[in-house]
Amino acid sequence: MLYPIALTIHIISIIIWIGGVAFVTMVTFPMIQRGTSSLEQVMMFQGTEHRFGKIAKTMVILAGLSGLYLINVKGMSLGVWIMMVLWAVYASLLFGLEKKIFKSLFGKPSDQIDTKKIFAILQGFHWIVLTLSFLAVAAGIWVAHY
Ligand code: HEM
Repeated sequence: MLYPIALTIHIISIIIWIGGVAFVTMVTFPMIQRGTSSLEQVMMFQGTEHRFGKIAKTMVILAGLSGLYLINVKGMSLGVWIMMVLWAVYASLLFGLEKKIFKSLFGKPSDQIDTKKIFAILQGFHWIVLTLSFLAVAAGIWVAHY
């Protein structure tokens, strides 16, 4: 009885979290890049980041806890290792690394910041993380259904 509940929590948290990353990568960043002023671009980015950051943190915790329960029932495998490694990358980004990266990108005097370049780098980075996330989804489906 607990197994389908844990799996449902696992999948819903992953839908919200990876879906959010997909939305930010495919919709928000292109919108930001069309912004007319640097201030408008930074405000749009910070607004999304602030709101989605909290949601993503909660979802990462839920996915991790439900994942631990699933391991308890189903055991470890290569697919589970792939999911855990990607989960660890996200968790370290959300709970610390991201702040450091933003500080190094935006921490200079405003006349030295090339926002166009920074947002292009950030969007590229999001595409990489999103592609890796699809790999983790594929790994999850593989361990559960192959
Ligand atoms: C990037 C993060 C993750 C993604 C995208 C992900 C995705 C998935 C998906 C799509 C499934 C398949 C469910 C199904 O089709 O029935 C699954 C199952 C599972 N996940 Fe994850 N997961 C992630 C993180 C984790 C973590 C951190 C753990 C362990 C701590 C974990 C452990 C498991 C286990 C044990 C299963 C069950 C496999 C089975 O039913 O045999 N996952 N996951």
